[in-house]
Amino acid sequence: MGIWSKKSLARLQGEDGEGQQLHRTLNGFQLTLLGIGAIIGAGIFVVTGTAAAQHSGPAIVLSFVLAGFGCLLAGLCYAEFASMIPVAGSAYTYGYATLGELVAWIIGWDLMLEYLFASSAVAVGWSGYFTAFLRDYVGWELPAALANAPFGTTPGSLVPHATGALVNLPAVVLVGVLTALLVVGIHESARVNNIIVFVKVAIVLLVIVFGAFHVEREHWTPFIPPNQGEFGQFGWSGVLAGAGVIFFAYIGFDAVSTAAQETKNPKRDLPMGILGSLVVCTVLYVLMAGVMTGLAPYHELDVAEPVYVAISKGGPALAWLRPIVGLGAIAGLASVVLVMLMGQPRVFYAMARDGLLPDFFGRIHPRFRTPYVSTLITGVVAMVVAGLFPIGLLGHLVSIGTLFAFMVVCAGILVLRYTQPGLPRPFRTPFVPAVPILGILTCGALMLGLGLETWLRLVLWLALGLVIYFGYGRRHSRVAREEASHPPPR
Ligand code: ALA
Repeated sequence: MGIWSKKSLARLQGEDGEGQQLHRTLNGFQLTLLGIGAIIGAGIFVVTGTAAAQHSGPAIVLSFVLAGFGCLLAGLCYAEFASMIPVAGSAYTYGYATLGELVAWIIGWDLMLEYLFASSAVAVGWSGYFTAFLRDYVGWELPAALANAPFGTTPGSLVPHATGALVNLPAVVLVGVLTALLVVGIHESARVNNIIVFVKVAIVLLVIVFGAFHVEREHWTPFIPPNQGEFGQFGWSGVLAGAGVIFFAYIGFDAVSTAAQETKNPKRDLPMGILGSLVVCTVLYVLMAGVMTGLAPYHELDVAEPVYVAISKGGPALAWLRPIVGLGAIAGLASVVLVMLMGQPRVFYAMARDGLLPDFFGRIHPRFRTPYVSTLITGVVAMVVAGLFPIGLLGHLVSIGTLFAFMVVCAGILVLRYTQPGLPRPFRTPFVPAVPILGILTCGALMLGLGLETWLRLVLWLALGLVIYFGYGRRHSRVAREEASHPPPR
């Protein structure tokens, strides 16, 4: 068996009671807030602007619908898994149960793109609003060399170029502070998160409602600007490329499933958290993107703080909204970084428990009951990445990595329905096999919309992961070792 070893569901469920326990403090409503906290962030506040300017124009609204549809399909598959295997580890654990150890490792490694790199990407987005706020309302201009990434992307080249900046300092400091908060404990941080989520949703609603009165319809015409001669630049291919890029905005609902071991009633609460947060966010995004492209010509939104710019275009009547949006973005994006930083150590925890990563990754703090070692490792790596790279590069990589993980989750649902049809499934994905198959196709199409360089970066990242698996994980795997000493009956 070896690389194809699977963990039985009974074993996965049993592990819930094994060893050091994480605290069970979260209910369904809190999980929904956790999801919204993870979802609404730099995607809508930053990436919408660049995606509209470079790929879709006002049809970014359609891109949001398409990406939301893909997420809903994957979300339905996530919900079945999360209710059936409510243990830490998310897609990694689901992969272990259905497709075997090698695939599980690949997903676990790939999930680092989703959580760790996403926390860096959002921290970079946060830095854009933070710096603008300091400039406009505190009168303090941070030197550009200390507020920007030293590396930038060059279209058509894998190698980033030097921008002349030194480090994105605000992004680094934010990740550092939140990491410290997470080491101290999830309960405190979940409470802070709840307040911030309310503020964030309120601000998105304010922009939608007040912005709607100042929309100029001519900004929406042509709704789908003509193709510029290249795939992904306006036209329908632009809608697809835009959907791949703003897919980033939806990432996070599955962070709910990584909190499975901290959930009071996982079977009921997890599906509620995943689907609830996704539906709320899709509606808000479509409306917000429509208002933003209606307030400002789409090509003017290619900036670090596009919501700010859109509101400014709405004229003096919307001036009062600017500082509120600034503060909301600052608090809101920070909450996303928090949830992402919280998701990653819990995947590491599950991988260490299986022996695929060294044991110290799974160490729980005796007093705070948090996976503090992996939280610190995550925090330090995320700080370095956030300090060095631009949001464009990170966001694309996060999108492609997550889409890949989603495809595997959809495939896992199909496999398990046929291999183990009788298993109790507290939440059943509807219309199987149509939903998972459509999920695989939609996520695959969105991946195609992301450029060649992003694909190459994904391949390099996965190759590095395979080297580590064959160098370490395969030899230390607990499941494989137990199978070798007690082969399963045939
Ligand atoms: N969905 C998250 C955001 O948009 C990653 O910031």
